Amino acid sequence: MKVELLDSTIREGEQSPNVSFTVEQKLEIVKLLDEFGVEFIELGHPAVSPDVREAVERLARLDTRANKMVHGRALARDIDDAANLNVPWVGIFFGTSPLSLEYKFQITPQKALVRISEAIRYAKDKGLKVRFTAEDATRTDTDFLVEVASVAEEAGADRFSIADTVGTTHPASLRKLVRAVASSVSIPLHVHCHNDYGLATANVLAGLEGGARLADVTVNGLGERSGISALSEVAVTLKMLYKVDNPWNLELLPKLSRVVERASGIFNSENRPIVGLYAFTHKAGLHTRAVLKDPRTYEAFPPELIKRHREITIDKYTGRDAVRSRLETMGVKLNDDQLNEIIEIIKSQPTKRHFSDMDLLDIVDDVLGLEMRARVPIDVEAIVNMELNSALYTTRVTRRLMGYPYVQDVYEITGEFDIVAHIKTKSIAELNEFIEELRVSEGVERTTTRLILKGYSRDFEHENKTSEDK
Ligand code: COA
Ligand code: ZN
Repeated sequence: MKVELLDSTIREGEQSPNVSFTVEQKLEIVKLLDEFGVEFIELGHPAVSPDVREAVERLARLDTRANKMVHGRALARDIDDAANLNVPWVGIFFGTSPLSLEYKFQITPQKALVRISEAIRYAKDKGLKVRFTAEDATRTDTDFLVEVASVAEEAGADRFSIADTVGTTHPASLRKLVRAVASSVSIPLHVHCHNDYGLATANVLAGLEGGARLADVTVNGLGERSGISALSEVAVTLKMLYKVDNPWNLELLPKLSRVVERASGIFNSENRPIVGLYAFTHKAGLHTRAVLKDPRTYEAFPPELIKRHREITIDKYTGRDAVRSRLETMGVKLNDDQLNEIIEIIKSQPTKRHFSDMDLLDIVDDVLGLEMRARVPIDVEAIVNMELNSALYTTRVTRRLMGYPYVQDVYEITGEFDIVAHIKTKSIAELNEFIEELRVSEGVERTTTRLILKGYSRDFEHENKTSEDK
């Protein structure tokens, strides 16, 4: 199966409610997508606003492996934008369903064919490669859609895209529709599926099965309303279940997801597949027991595939193996009776949703009647001071910081440092990772960190100051 992905986070993704990326965010996202290896990247629709136009101009100048595409209506001025910006591909869209023809354009199907054909010819005359998208294709009469595709091909379109603009199709139906179009034209087909019924990923996969070459995706499934197919779901499924061999760098998926979460302000639910916090967390005793023996028992694919790791959560569902294994990683070895006692204590607290390492050690203390000295800090708080290269960065860095869930407060100050942030993380490892990310952020010259280890141990409960870095 030969497949390609077109990422539309910058165009469709920015059509999500409440989302507006800065040019810098778009540059960061596009560079990451290119590193990931998507085959096409949509840079935006310049006619939308001056800042979108500026972003498209800057993105157009980036040297990418991915094919770059500008989005535009079937209008000469939108096509001129693509040509003037020297972007090789223009994605021209035009609604073909009866609803579009009547309510958006008030034209007959025959007139629509003429407009489509003229727009494609105009773009070809300008030397552009053209993908023509039949918007609302899934609610277009199949015979007419086939006619549209044939007219597009005849006018010189290089690709034809079937858009399920309102997310109203289902896999079997889209597979059939793609087959019908594929049997009438020879240019490669694309599918663009919205998620209004939660079927976006299933639908693009069915479209590919039906003969389409390319699927549109966005990071975190952003897009109008409920968005479109998510890059992570489509890429991992194609690799693991369809065995495609595209050289995508799947390990970048979690990073891409986090960067886009922050830039968009739309955060994934914990149980989102692949990139969600819980995607590799096991809970029920029977599951964790099996997973500890062989993770394949309850894991669809290894977390390492995307550079994540498995976790085991401890609560009333927990079994002995999970508790034993967790305690052993902290150097605590117990006999069966002691373990049973600990499990009993855990199961007698149904309202406690999660037992951290610290909680477990407290229970061990109680059961063994001794005070365990070395503790694993949890719920770590820290004060991070940041010095910036220039005051120009203050607002940008502050805004970026506010997007992180770890950040409680941010203060702009004067003196040796420019910004002070109050951070809360679940562990030292998480804190270190976060601070590392801050240190390499654009504009950040230097950081120092003070830890506040509140829950460290009874002995240290009210101590505040511990370490300082760099
Ligand atoms: N092809 C050709 N013309 C189109 C068109 C299309 N696909 N879609 C709309 N138009 C025409 C309308 O018929 C209207 O024409 P008229 O001025 O002769 O009546 C005109 O575009 C509307 O333009 P404008 O008044 O500028 O529209 P707007 O203020 O609603 O903003 C954009 C439109 C392009 C600036 C932008 O904000 C937008 O809505 N983009 C849509 C992106 C989109 O729909 N993407 C999904 C497609 S896959
Ligand atoms: Zn769309």
